[in-house]
Amino acid sequence: FQFAAPHNEPVYNYAPGSPERAALKKQLAAFKAAPADIPMYINGQEVRTGKTVAVRPPHEIKHKLGQFHRGDASHVQSAIDAALAARTQWAETPWEQRASIFLRAAELIATKYRYHMNGATMLGQSKNAYQAEIDSACELIDFLRFNVHYLSEIYKQQPVSSAGVHNRTEYRPLEGFVLAVTPFNFTAIAGNLPSVAAMCGNVVVWKPADTQVFASSVFMQILIEAGLPAGVINLVYVDGPVLGEVCFNHRDFAGIHFTGSTGVFQQMWKTIGTNIHKYRAYPRIVGETGGKDFVLAHKSALVDVVVTALARGAFEYQGQKCSAASRAYLPSNISEEVQQKLATMLGTMKMGTVEDFGNFINAVIDERSFDKIAAYIDNAKKDPKAKIIAGGNYNKAEGYFIEPTVIVTTDPKYSTMCEEIFGPVLTIYTYDADKFEETLTLVDTTSDYALTGSIIAQDRYAIDLATKKLVNSAGNFYINDKPTGAVVGQQPFGGARASGTNDKAGSMLNLYRWLSARTIKETM
Ligand code: ALA
Repeated sequence: FQFAAPHNEPVYNYAPGSPERAALKKQLAAFKAAPADIPMYINGQEVRTGKTVAVRPPHEIKHKLGQFHRGDASHVQSAIDAALAARTQWAETPWEQRASIFLRAAELIATKYRYHMNGATMLGQSKNAYQAEIDSACELIDFLRFNVHYLSEIYKQQPVSSAGVHNRTEYRPLEGFVLAVTPFNFTAIAGNLPSVAAMCGNVVVWKPADTQVFASSVFMQILIEAGLPAGVINLVYVDGPVLGEVCFNHRDFAGIHFTGSTGVFQQMWKTIGTNIHKYRAYPRIVGETGGKDFVLAHKSALVDVVVTALARGAFEYQGQKCSAASRAYLPSNISEEVQQKLATMLGTMKMGTVEDFGNFINAVIDERSFDKIAAYIDNAKKDPKAKIIAGGNYNKAEGYFIEPTVIVTTDPKYSTMCEEIFGPVLTIYTYDADKFEETLTLVDTTSDYALTGSIIAQDRYAIDLATKKLVNSAGNFYINDKPTGAVVGQQPFGGARASGTNDKAGSMLNLYRWLSARTIKETM
């Protein structure tokens, strides 16, 4: 049995006057008119605790989109119990049947719930229509379809047999439950982390970020409609420490699939290490944990290519992609011109709500992010080593709005060149155009992260040198492009160093982490 190699889901462009735009606008209005009451999903049941948390669009904080029900330790325990009760039957379900459920979910998003997924992501996470489309529609659909295909390839891999001996490999799910902890910034990642483990036959406890509950709950309903059996994925909204206390002390904790901050991931890893004697098996620890992603231009680079890479790479989705460009190294021969053109381009970008499709920039996710980003901007305003050449204003009266901001610094180790900000702030350092090799060392040693990065050049020697010298500086390396927008099946995604375990999302490398092989030798 073989699933055909999939194609990437076509991207709708929501052009003015198009039926797609009208349908999406209708869905946005419907979500806004009827506040959602969002339950947890444990053992296939909706669970409401009455301890509600308001859900508000980050760009319109006075509007209540709905509320979700907060759980406690008892709900985490129920989720684990439900998962373990479902485990044997799910693991024994023929894998093609398991896979079909996720393919049906992909089809449901593509044909029936596309506007629900995009509308929830736009309103809940303040993404514009295009950014939502490439995330909660296309990327999530692609993850589901491509991972089914990769799984079918893995199952085919079998050892050789010899005369009188038959050998085979069984790709078993892990013995226990998998915990999926998912971020606010990509609905596709939130949906993929539990799904990929479940597809392999695992049972899952899934905790999304509080700021991404809305779209996650829509996806959960789609999984149920697609036929996901009760208990296979259990969706809970609990505080991180409560979740950790129950899951990391449980004998059947089999692994964690995480995307979020480096600090949280390291703390979880330490706790798992401390508790290692409590577990039935060594847990799989898979995490993607942020970046300080660079764009390096060579003196041969075309100015407009650099400007576009920076404008899109740094500011799409308000710079809240783990892949977003946040430090740029520009050669002295073109730096001034790039800065001027970039500042002009950013000046034309409109900022506001997601319902006005003309807005390129929307709000950052929440007040904590807003305050953190604003503090970096304030520091830059006061620091003689830094100069703001675009943006620099922010306002949280109606929503968490921060202008796309460009800082130019004379210090290549200035704080905003080194620290992850996770917002619409780009820092530029101008280097002597004849000191390219030294700059490669600077790029490599400035940050502990190694997620994405770009080299922009026409000179083939410079491209080759950068590719070679920056071998460990980025898990996703781009030549003459922005460092964001990896497409499932085309650019498997992930980084090493402080950026994560580099178990590339959307590839066999990731799927292997949720499988535990048994080798069987039968002598005839
Ligand atoms: N996969 C996302 C990107 O490449 C994070 O931008």
